[in-house]
Amino acid sequence: MSKFAVSSSRIPGFYKLDIPKRRELLQTRLELEDDSLTALDSGGLDSATCDQMIENVVGRYSLPFGIGLNFRINNHDMLLPMVIEEPSVVAAASNAARMIREGGGFFADVSAPIMIGQIQLLNLADPDKACAQIQQRDSEILGLAAKHCASLVRRGGGPVGLRSRILSRPSDPDGGMVVVHLLIDVCDAMGANLVNTAAEGVAQTLADITGGAIGLRILSNLAAERTVTVRATIPNAMLATKGQHDGETVRDAIVSASRFAELDPYRAATHNKGIMNGVDAVLMATANDWRSAEAGAHAYASQGGRYRPLAVWTAVDDALRGEMTIPMAVGTVGGALQVHRAAQLSLKILGSTAASDLAAASAAAGLACNLAALRALATEGIQRGHMALHSRIVERANKNNEDSP
Ligand code: MEV
Repeated sequence: MSKFAVSSSRIPGFYKLDIPKRRELLQTRLELEDDSLTALDSGGLDSATCDQMIENVVGRYSLPFGIGLNFRINNHDMLLPMVIEEPSVVAAASNAARMIREGGGFFADVSAPIMIGQIQLLNLADPDKACAQIQQRDSEILGLAAKHCASLVRRGGGPVGLRSRILSRPSDPDGGMVVVHLLIDVCDAMGANLVNTAAEGVAQTLADITGGAIGLRILSNLAAERTVTVRATIPNAMLATKGQHDGETVRDAIVSASRFAELDPYRAATHNKGIMNGVDAVLMATANDWRSAEAGAHAYASQGGRYRPLAVWTAVDDALRGEMTIPMAVGTVGGALQVHRAAQLSLKILGSTAASDLAAASAAAGLACNLAALRALATEGIQRGHMALHSRIVERANKNNEDSP
């Protein structure tokens, strides 16, 4: 697959077309020679495959698949596959991405794909000594971990570090307890299975070295070593609302809305929910584990002892500047992607099979949704746009009820 397949993610009037016309345009824009768009007819999965994926299967469940337009990320245009049941998220993301491209687009720094495997050691008589013993033998332990993820090592990844932390002392009610973090570069995988296998593989050795008992061995969803920082700058003029609020007024109102989230965890939760509207939609479209992303994002937002907004917006000269850092444990290989044709199509739409590009795109979708929500909330309120779309669904539901015998 060519990297960054689209020359432009601007497709004016896309929303006005019917579904076959949109598909035709997408086919041309992506230069697709195959029939991969037909994956969307079945939602990407047949019943037999579903039956292999989970237990007690009785059928399949569909959600709308839309395209986030106007995204420009690290100087490349990208179309974003988005799967979500909530009206107005795709439109809001596309609209915000259009404003952001006027300021040069999104700029994303994606960290190395380092996941954390946790090994809990219990009943330690001397936790400080246990940490020192682990440190002394870290290359041996990392070597052992590498044997438990040999295919990953062949792909250029594998264990890269070991860190120990004391969680409680022998005199505490929980006894002497240490957690060992096994850091693993998982390349383009989400990495849960790889990390869990390696964590289980070194646990006995850690217990033997320290004289402790083995507790849990599992990855941490607080993927604090695997993050994306995404930034965007929007000229004030782009923020103006038709005939109502000038750009500077809207910019200042968005900055104030962002401060509200910084000062109040009740608001920060909703602010971050709006971000996850965009992130999760891209993760759903690519068959990624969005629950893991959710857990990681909210735990990350709480680091430092207070729940905070993941994205903040500030005034810079005649512009608005947004910045967000978010853990992003996403994969473009393995997992459900192997069998899900619509998820495979999503990577074609994105134009990349690199997990780092998917991470950047998901974070950009999150920041775009946040900007769109704050701009609406800080001006006319969210309900007008929301309810217009909502009423389409109510109308349709009423029609379905009337039509049913
Ligand atoms: C709704 O899904 C998301 C918002 O509540 C986000 C926000 O308030 O920032 C609109």
